[in-house]
Amino acid sequence: MRALVTGASRGIGRATALHLARDGVDVAVHFLSHESEAAATAAEVRARGREALLLRADLAEPSGATELARAVAERWDSLDILVHNAGPYPRRSFEETSEAEWRSILQVHLLSPAALTRALLPRLRRAPTARIVFVSSVLAFQGSTRGAHYAAAKAAQLGLARSLAHELAPQTTVNVVAPGSIDTAILAGDSPERRRERERAIPLGRLGSAEDVAEAISFLASPKAAYLTGTTLHVNGGLRSD
Ligand SMILES: NC(=O)c1ccc[n+]([C@@H]2O[C@H](COP(=O)([O-])OP(=O)(O)OC[C@H]3O[C@@H](n4cnc5c(N)ncnc54)[C@H](OP(=O)(O)O)[C@@H]3O)[C@@H](O)[C@H]2O)c1
Repeated sequence: MRALVTGASRGIGRATALHLARDGVDVAVHFLSHESEAAATAAEVRARGREALLLRADLAEPSGATELARAVAERWDSLDILVHNAGPYPRRSFEETSEAEWRSILQVHLLSPAALTRALLPRLRRAPTARIVFVSSVLAFQGSTRGAHYAAAKAAQLGLARSLAHELAPQTTVNVVAPGSIDTAILAGDSPERRRERERAIPLGRLGSAEDVAEAISFLASPKAAYLTGTTLHVNGGLRSD
């Protein structure tokens, strides 16, 4: 089996690439700016006995998804698993967020995943069954105090995923993982006090790890999840349930 994981240089994407390799899947490791980290992910995939591709694309640019799809299609004639994970979480008040920032965040979290899915459909259709997993966020459900554009883009992803679950069935399943507060570079700017506040709000008493989320993604990507489509797995330590 073969998977493309976007944003696999670090954090949740990296952990997902390694979980999939553990499960016997070849992985196309996509990155934007952290090339040596992405190369390390690819090396770890290979160390698990699987093939790894290393592919760069800026998914905040309208051409990024097409370029990435082309690079995958040049090397692989079929694709079993597509994980839409890449993207930043910029903190900005609604008033301070420019139109360009709105466009960029909608591009990376909504339009590029849609374009990438569309461009790779011929490859996904060649697999016996295909799996698509979107990495959304708890903020899609509760909103964000400093990131309306991010929360809106993540909520829009849910509509896309649920629609694709209908339209691509029965050959392809499409599901969503919605992480809460996960201990990756995205939260690195938090003060110690903010971190403690986050921990206190979580019933399970700790931030999630990238591996906690990767476990859920690799489950949804596996044959064990054959009867799940259009659903959302919340990985948030009990912070919120919908
Ligand atoms: N951590 C959390 O608390 C949390 C909570 C909810 C949802 N999420 C979501 O989980 C996903 C992964 O986040 P993470 O926590 O693992 O963050 P991370 O460690 O910062 O990783 C982000 C990944 O996205 C890539 N990326 C960023 N901007 C990109 C762009 N314009 N084009 C292509 N790739 C880009 C990065 O590539 P380079 O490093 O190579 O630049 C990196 O591989 C994101 O969609 C995020 O919104 C995270």
